[in-house]
Amino acid sequence: MQALEQRRTTREFKPDALGDQMLSDLLWAACGVNRPGEGKRTVPTAKNAQEIDVYVALVEGLYRYEAETHRLRQVAREDLRGLTSGQEFARVAPVALVLVADFARFKDTAEADAQRYAVFDAGAIAQNISLYCAAAGLGTVVHELPREPLARAMQLGERQSIIMAQAVGWPK
Ligand SMILES: Cc1cc2nc3c(=O)[nH]c(=O)nc-3n(C[C@H](O)[C@H](O)[C@H](O)COP(=O)(O)O)c2cc1C
Repeated sequence: MQALEQRRTTREFKPDALGDQMLSDLLWAACGVNRPGEGKRTVPTAKNAQEIDVYVALVEGLYRYEAETHRLRQVAREDLRGLTSGQEFARVAPVALVLVADFARFKDTAEADAQRYAVFDAGAIAQNISLYCAAAGLGTVVHELPREPLARAMQLGERQSIIMAQAVGWPK
């Protein structure tokens, strides 16, 4: 109840990093494996497609969260946070999360259905992130973004599509 009461949008951040344990907990809350025997996650996904990947832009580079092993895999060495939004928070917040759908993971699914599922599934992840942040005293903002330049910088594949992004950090 306290986390729900505290859930809100924060747009002003301190630049301080989160620390490894907090980043680890944040990502596990987002879409980590909570039933290792079945490989299922903290969020539901249509047809259990698990099609949303959380990319993590930090000052050190860009990483993809691999839920199965609970690890970060580096995919770029540049700091891409500034490409996630034109708003001020993108230059300050230490963590920029980018929710990316991989439509190749939907089998036997009409394109219109896949589009709806991906947006819905990403929304569940965004809310888990928001509630973790509320519980941990962190701030976060779900936000729109210029998708094309970021997708190019992230070197996304043809069937990958950025759904939304979310900055995370300590509130100012
Ligand atoms: C899909 C979506 C897109 C959003 N895009 C932006 C954005 O680009 N920039 C921004 O500052 N806030 C953005 N927001 C945050 C909303 O403005 C915010 O949730 C709303 O004003 C309600 O405030 P609250 O989250 O504090 O309840 C977005 C929220 C959602 C759910």
